[in-house]
Amino acid sequence: MILVTGATGKVGRHVVAGLLEAGVAVRALVRQPLLSGLPPEVELVVGDINDPAAVRKAAAGVDAAFLLWPSFSAEGAAPVVEALTEQVRRVVYLSALNVKDDQPAEYNGVWGQVEQLLAAADWTFLRVGGFAANTLTWAEEIRTGSTVSMPSPKAGRSLIHERDIADIAVLALLDDAHIGRKYELTGPQVLTQEEQVATIASVIGKDLRIAEQSPEEARQLMLATGVDPILAEGSVQYWASLVDDPEPVTPDYKTLTGNPGRTFHQWTHDHAADFLTTTPAG
Ligand SMILES: NC(=O)c1ccc[n+]([C@@H]2O[C@H](COP(=O)([O-])OP(=O)(O)OC[C@H]3O[C@@H](n4cnc5c(N)ncnc54)[C@H](OP(=O)(O)O)[C@@H]3O)[C@@H](O)[C@H]2O)c1
Repeated sequence: MILVTGATGKVGRHVVAGLLEAGVAVRALVRQPLLSGLPPEVELVVGDINDPAAVRKAAAGVDAAFLLWPSFSAEGAAPVVEALTEQVRRVVYLSALNVKDDQPAEYNGVWGQVEQLLAAADWTFLRVGGFAANTLTWAEEIRTGSTVSMPSPKAGRSLIHERDIADIAVLALLDDAHIGRKYELTGPQVLTQEEQVATIASVIGKDLRIAEQSPEEARQLMLATGVDPILAEGSVQYWASLVDDPEPVTPDYKTLTGNPGRTFHQWTHDHAADFLTTTPAG
């Protein structure tokens, strides 16, 4: 039995599907069981991941756990990780590529802090780069018009398909050979943001143009939508840096699976509906 947290999210849904396909029993910690949309064979434990008692109950008797920490702060993570690892030693944690072992811990953000909390467990860390799904922030503009606003359109990114992340999570959850490994996961290619928009345009068959924002304009817009100020500042600076110094493509997905990983074109194909249709209210 494997516990999946974040099972209703982008990565978690595919982790659940991969485990079921492998014939493994799955338990999921969910907040809203009636809305989970998970397959009926998944055992649901209702609770909030911020509640150590709920996590303890969800992890009782499982052989391994897939953990994500759905917050930009590690506040409250210590008792939750303690409750989890009291019950289960084997944990595959969805971390981030910006965690680097050779930089001061404060640069490793919430992901580095959760990795440290897991130090005594039998862990595997999936240090993942930017998700292709982050481009869904453009979806509303694309559905309702033909302009996509962004800073740094020439920023080069190696965005990853959520299914590639889930593939590696499933491998790691099913094989103890991955204990103590840190996998760096990105997509198989670097595309600039304007190339990403061109890919979406070609897949959905719609002419799209880019309206370039200054970093300051982008930062102010992020703040206006409630984004944390440190995250907003860090993001615009990071995107600007990728114009001259694009993100890397890491080899780990290919090494582990023998395949190069799904392209951004494939991801756009899988998510074309998000750029074409508006979800009906209610
Ligand atoms: N986006 C990136 O570029 C990137 C890069 C590296 C790492 N990451 C990490 O990836 C993780 C997000 O993964 P994702 O995109 O697959 O998730 P997601 O689609 O954002 O979904 C979040 C999942 O977490 C669950 N969740 C949220 N708050 C919860 C709570 N308080 N108690 C219980 N469950 C809760 C949600 O359940 P409900 O159905 O109840 O909402 C949902 O299943 C984050 O930890 C993020 O830091 C992201």
